[in-house]
Amino acid sequence: MFFWGAATSSHQVEGGNYNDWSEWEIKSAKIKVQNAKLQKWPEFILNPPAGGPNPLQEENYISGKAAEHYRRFHEDFDIAKSLGHNAHRFSIEWSRIEPEQGTFDEEEIKHYRNVVEALRKRGLEPFVSLWHFTLPLWLRKIGGTENKEFPSYFQRYAEKITAALKDKIRFWITLNEPEIYSLNACFRGRWPPQKKSIFSFYKSLRNLAAAHQNAYEAIKTILPKAEVGAAVNLSYFESSGGLINDFFKNAAEGLMNFHFLNSVCPKIDFIGLNYYFHNRIDWGFNKNANKWLSDMEWEIYPEGIYHVLTSLKKYKLPIYITENGVADSRDILRQKFIQEHIIWIKKAIKEGINVRGYFYWSLLDNFEWDKGFWPRFGLVEVNYKTLKRKIRPSALAYKKIIEGNRAL
Ligand code: BGC
Repeated sequence: MFFWGAATSSHQVEGGNYNDWSEWEIKSAKIKVQNAKLQKWPEFILNPPAGGPNPLQEENYISGKAAEHYRRFHEDFDIAKSLGHNAHRFSIEWSRIEPEQGTFDEEEIKHYRNVVEALRKRGLEPFVSLWHFTLPLWLRKIGGTENKEFPSYFQRYAEKITAALKDKIRFWITLNEPEIYSLNACFRGRWPPQKKSIFSFYKSLRNLAAAHQNAYEAIKTILPKAEVGAAVNLSYFESSGGLINDFFKNAAEGLMNFHFLNSVCPKIDFIGLNYYFHNRIDWGFNKNANKWLSDMEWEIYPEGIYHVLTSLKKYKLPIYITENGVADSRDILRQKFIQEHIIWIKKAIKEGINVRGYFYWSLLDNFEWDKGFWPRFGLVEVNYKTLKRKIRPSALAYKKIIEGNRAL
């Protein structure tokens, strides 16, 4: 059975989180507004749908109540079900489960059992991510992913969750985008803790790879039947030709696409592919034609997903597209975006690539990390004042695609 659905992550939709991001958001909101004032924003971003915050407002940068999915998950899963989905990807918020080092909150564990039961009841196969960028504050204080004990802390948390949910979950995603996280948090200085060091980057990435391996063992020991993967953000690096461009393509691909996967193999049962980016290399990076752009001015390049999928053939593992989506507040790009990506995915499948699922990012409008609320990725629009949900037309178009491709 092919899995069709959408994805979310705890911090981006739940609301009421208290972790390293929530602290940093409050500290950095003012400066982000100042920076935003230096840019020119199109009218549709300054006047977002349903009165949501725009980039010039501090509230844009503070996750706060987010989409209040923590309280409204039943309603949200009803919507997913009504849209024809048969699977759903979500993440568990570590800072809720282990708010103090070594102290686990049983009430919060129960909450996620309820979440999983709510999915099962509606016939939605749960794909659970154990970590999607946020850290409990105690762990941030001792160095986060750079702490050499990180892999063992993560293992203990993974054991706890596996023991609690083992009768309910088959698909486990240990980590979300370890490379992107390490890049943005430790090298580019964009995400907390805003480091800018190549050593921090490598330390973080190495610890995340070890954390994956530990969690893999832990989950498999408790639940041998589990399918355990990781979600990686892979770009289509395209060389415009010639030795030098080819060299940079291979180097970039090696570091950003394959390094993590190579370092965790064979302790991985499937690859979760998050596909967003094309990067054309022509005597420099990002020499893209940029013919089609999202609200965030990211190039939309559906063909790239085909190339990335074929580049994964060597791993001989099943692949789930765990994320693929577009920021589009007016819902004028999304339908075509989904259609075109699926055409290229189908071509890869026809050529023998073992793709078994597709999760659109995201089910709901949500908190887009350092950018805040203004980018709108949702199949479902969220009114951030009333928290009312509104299904976008593209969600219905996606439903039709699902109905026409049940047996992919
Ligand atoms: C992340 C999501 C994020 C999305 C859009 C992915 O890299 O996993 O959390 O919202 O991209 O930027």
